[in-house]
Amino acid sequence: MYRTHTCGELRSEHAGQEVTLAGWVHSRRDHGSLIFLDLRDRYGLTQVVFDVAQVPEAHAIAAQVRSEFVIQVQGTVVLRAPEAINPELATGEIEVKAHTVTVLNPAQTPPLYIAKEGNEDETLRLKYRYLDLRRERMQRNIMLRHRVVKFIRDYLDAEGFLEIETPIMIKSTPEGARDYLVPSRVHPGKFYALPQSPQQLKQLLMVSGYDRYFQIARCFRDEDQRADRQPEFTQLDLEMSFVDQEDVITLSERLFTALVQTITPEKRMTTPFPRLTYAEAMRDYGSDKPDLRYDLKLVDVSDVVAETGFQVFSGAIASGGQVRGLRAPGCGSYTRKYLDDLVEFAKNAGAKGLAWAALPTEADAKPRSSFSKFVTDAEMAAIVERMQGEPGDLLLLVADHPPTVAAVLDRLRREFAQRLELADPNELSFAWITEFPLVEWNPEEQRWDAVHHPFTAPLDEDLPMMSSDPARVRAKAYDLALNGYEVGGGSIRIYRREIQQQMFRLLGISEEQAQAQFGHMLEAFTYGAPPHGGIAPGIDRLVMLLAGEPTIREVMAFPKTQQAVDLMTGAPSPVDERQLRELHITLRPSAGTTRS
Ligand code: AMO
Ligand code: AMP
Repeated sequence: MYRTHTCGELRSEHAGQEVTLAGWVHSRRDHGSLIFLDLRDRYGLTQVVFDVAQVPEAHAIAAQVRSEFVIQVQGTVVLRAPEAINPELATGEIEVKAHTVTVLNPAQTPPLYIAKEGNEDETLRLKYRYLDLRRERMQRNIMLRHRVVKFIRDYLDAEGFLEIETPIMIKSTPEGARDYLVPSRVHPGKFYALPQSPQQLKQLLMVSGYDRYFQIARCFRDEDQRADRQPEFTQLDLEMSFVDQEDVITLSERLFTALVQTITPEKRMTTPFPRLTYAEAMRDYGSDKPDLRYDLKLVDVSDVVAETGFQVFSGAIASGGQVRGLRAPGCGSYTRKYLDDLVEFAKNAGAKGLAWAALPTEADAKPRSSFSKFVTDAEMAAIVERMQGEPGDLLLLVADHPPTVAAVLDRLRREFAQRLELADPNELSFAWITEFPLVEWNPEEQRWDAVHHPFTAPLDEDLPMMSSDPARVRAKAYDLALNGYEVGGGSIRIYRREIQQQMFRLLGISEEQAQAQFGHMLEAFTYGAPPHGGIAPGIDRLVMLLAGEPTIREVMAFPKTQQAVDLMTGAPSPVDERQLRELHITLRPSAGTTRS
C-alpha cells in the first residue's frame, strides 16, 4: 500500500496511529538534529519530522531530499505542542514522527516555485503547465471547475435531461467564426470541420424526440484570442422541445441560482436575474453584456445640444449621430494631464474626440471644460442638468454614430468603475438580455448577416417586417450576462420551413446554397420537427467569474496562448512529408516555413 491517508487528512483524533503518506516535498527545514518536511498532495500538507536520535537512517535520507522529490513516509501521528500548532493548516494540530522514508523519485529543481506564487511570465507557467498545476491557485480552480460541471450534470439529470455526445468531426457549417478543418485521407480534397458548437446536431436531436438534451461540449473556433476566448472551449450545451423563451430562461436561471448557492455560497447574487432588452442595454450601458454591479448609466444629451453652435455636437446629430455622456462622480478635480490621457483613452477606443466638463465644488464657479468656449452658459447648464451633474463631478461626452458612441462610453464606464472601485468582487450580477436584432447589415459584404445564427426565430409580432424593414426585426434570442461578460447565448429556433426559407432569402442564401449547406436540416424539418430552443453557457467564462480570475486560461488545465499555441507540447507543429502526402496536401510556398 502506497499510503494509508492523504496529506490533507490527519487530525488530532488520529494521534497514536501508524500511517503511511506519499507525496511531494513541499518544503524542508533542517534544524540539525531535527528535519521537518512538509509533504504535499492535492489534499493538503502534512508536517513530517525526522529525529536523528531516534531514526538516524531516515534522518540521513531526509537530509538529502529536495523540493518536489516524491517520497513515501511511515511514521506515527503525534499531537503538536500547543505553541507549535498551526491554525492555518487543516492538519496543523498534528505532525508525523517518521520511522522510515523512501525516495520514490527524485526531482530536478523546478523552473517555477511550486510552494509559492511567483510573478514569473505566464509563458513559463504554460510551458511547464504540469508544474503550474501543482500550485494551490490552479488546484483550487481545477477543483472548482470539477464541482461546477458535476453540479450541472446532477441538476440537469434530476430535471430529466439526457447527456448525449455529438461528433467532433462534422460538416463545416457557419456559426460566425472560422472553422478548424480536418483533411480526409480516404476522400481526397474533402474536409471535416471541428464543431464551433453542436448547434445543428442538438436541433436534430429534437427532431429525434430527445426533448431535453444537454452536453458538456467542446467547441472549436478559429478567431482572434482574448482574455475570455480560447480556440477550444467548453459549453454547457442544452436544447429543449415544446418550450418558448420563458421556459429556457427559467430553467437556466434556476440552474445558475442553485449552482451559485451551492458552489460559491459566499458570493452575493440578485435574484430573480434582472432582464433588459437589447435596446435598453445599449441605451443605458452601451453594451449587450453590461456589468450591473454598478450604475454609471449613459445619458443622451442629443436633444439638448442639437441646436448648439458647437459643430462637433450639432454636426454629429445633423448627420444621423448622437451625443451621449457619462458622469464620473467626484472626478472633477482631474488635472489637465489626466484629462488629456482620458481623451487618448477614448480615441483608442474608437472616438474622434472626447468632450469633458469638470464641475467645480465652489458654488457659482464655472465648469472647466474642453468645449466651454463653443457653447453658451445656458447650454452648458442644460447639459449638466440632464446629466444630473453634482459639484465635483466630471462629465464626459462623445459625439458620433450610435455604435461608436456606445463602444466608447462602454469602455469609459468600465474604466471608471475600476478607478472608483465600484464593482464588488464578491458579487455575481447575472442579467438576461433579450430581443436581440435578428440580422445586422454587413457593409463590406453588402448583405444581412444573422446576429445569432440562421436558425434563430424572429419575434412573431416582427415577422411582417422581415421583408419591409429587416433591421428592426427582433429575434427570440437571449444572452446571459455576468459581471460584464457574455456567459451564455441561446434562442428559440425556426422550426417551420417557410420561415426558414424566408430567413435564408433575407440572408442572401440561395435555394441551392441552402440545400448544399443545410440540406440535412431542411429535410429533417419536413419529418415532424417540434418547436424547440436552447442555450449554451460558456463553462470557462462561468468558472473564471466564480473563481474571480482575470482570464479563462486560469481555469483551463492546458490552455493555449493568445496566438493559439500550446507552449507545453509545441502545437501547432510541422508534420512530415509522408503525412501530408497521405492527406493529399501540398503546402503553398508561404506556408510551412513559419516556426514558432
Ligand atoms: P454562442 O456562439 O453565443 O452560442 O456561444 C455560447 C457561449 O459560449 C462561450 N464562448 C466562448 N468561450 C470561450 N472561448 C470562446 N472562443 C468562446 N466563444 C463562445 C460564451 C458564449 O456566450 N450554438 C449557440 C448556442 C445556442 O444557440 O444554443 C452558440 O454557440 O460564453
Ligand atoms: P476641436 O474642435 O476638434 O478642438 O474639439 C473641441 C473639443 O471637442 C475637444 O475637447 C475634443 O476632444 C472634443 N471632440 C472632438 N470630437 C469629438 C467627438 N466626436 N465627440 C466628443 N468630443 C469631441
